[in-house]
Amino acid sequence: MARPILLIHGGAGSRSVQGEKYFAYRESLQRILAKAYPLLHRGGSALKAVARAVELLEDDPLYNAGRGSKIQKDGQIRMSASIMDGDRRAFAGCVNVEGVKNPIRLAEKLLKEEDRVLAGEGARQFAKKLGLPFASPFTPRARADFTAKKSGKTGTVGAVAIDSRGRLAAATSTGGRGFEFPGRVSDSPTVAGNFANAHCALSATGVGEEIVDFALAATLCAQVAGGKSLTKASRGIQKEAEKAHASFGWIAIDFRGQVVADTTTETLIWASAATIEKNRHSFFLESKNT
Ligand code: GLY
Repeated sequence: MARPILLIHGGAGSRSVQGEKYFAYRESLQRILAKAYPLLHRGGSALKAVARAVELLEDDPLYNAGRGSKIQKDGQIRMSASIMDGDRRAFAGCVNVEGVKNPIRLAEKLLKEEDRVLAGEGARQFAKKLGLPFASPFTPRARADFTAKKSGKTGTVGAVAIDSRGRLAAATSTGGRGFEFPGRVSDSPTVAGNFANAHCALSATGVGEEIVDFALAATLCAQVAGGKSLTKASRGIQKEAEKAHASFGWIAIDFRGQVVADTTTETLIWASAATIEKNRHSFFLESKNT
């Protein structure tokens, strides 16, 4: 029996997270782990745990996913999410969907369908058909960023987990880059930004185009499946990405329960829970270079 572990992230950025902001992230990540980790602890699947963790991250406007998503050049918000069950080697996702409260729940539902990746209006119609909740993701902060024509690389969310049966899963959700051209597809609903197999699960954050250039998640998980240690594979990609001046970070876990949280950026906001003793989670939050 494996020890269940859940890792979550709230994005990578070019500035260190300090003061009030640090405490806001810490409170949020801690609250989310406290709600999602018990699923694993009670014997639930890694797939259910990552979906729940990402749903909670989407509901917190602190992050650029779900409720806190950024606005695109034409004034609309379009969200993307994906989930992968490493045990079944099955990927599903939604691309640039509008108005769905939790895109990760749509991705999770699509896992059971024949057409497992849906985009735009088709994805929205399918969510309607399933009866999933709809909500406006516009926040005052997103409106202010839009007015300032701000584009960035922070705030994508994700989770990876191993459950007590050793099954791995990954989930990722994003509101995009902000002020991007409508129709842009980020890495998050692709196997570059989110991937899991029987050996490894990875969720990425950062500049989508660069994550795709590295085919990050699929490449790293394939290296681990090929026998490389997760740490070695991860550090190798980090070195290469730094050399290419690429800006992205990732969390990953392997079948042995080894975890990494690596980034080429100044900060990666992440936390993990691994055990519950007397209802207390072992908790760790790291903002790189702080
Ligand atoms: N990684 C999220 C994006 O580039 O949109």
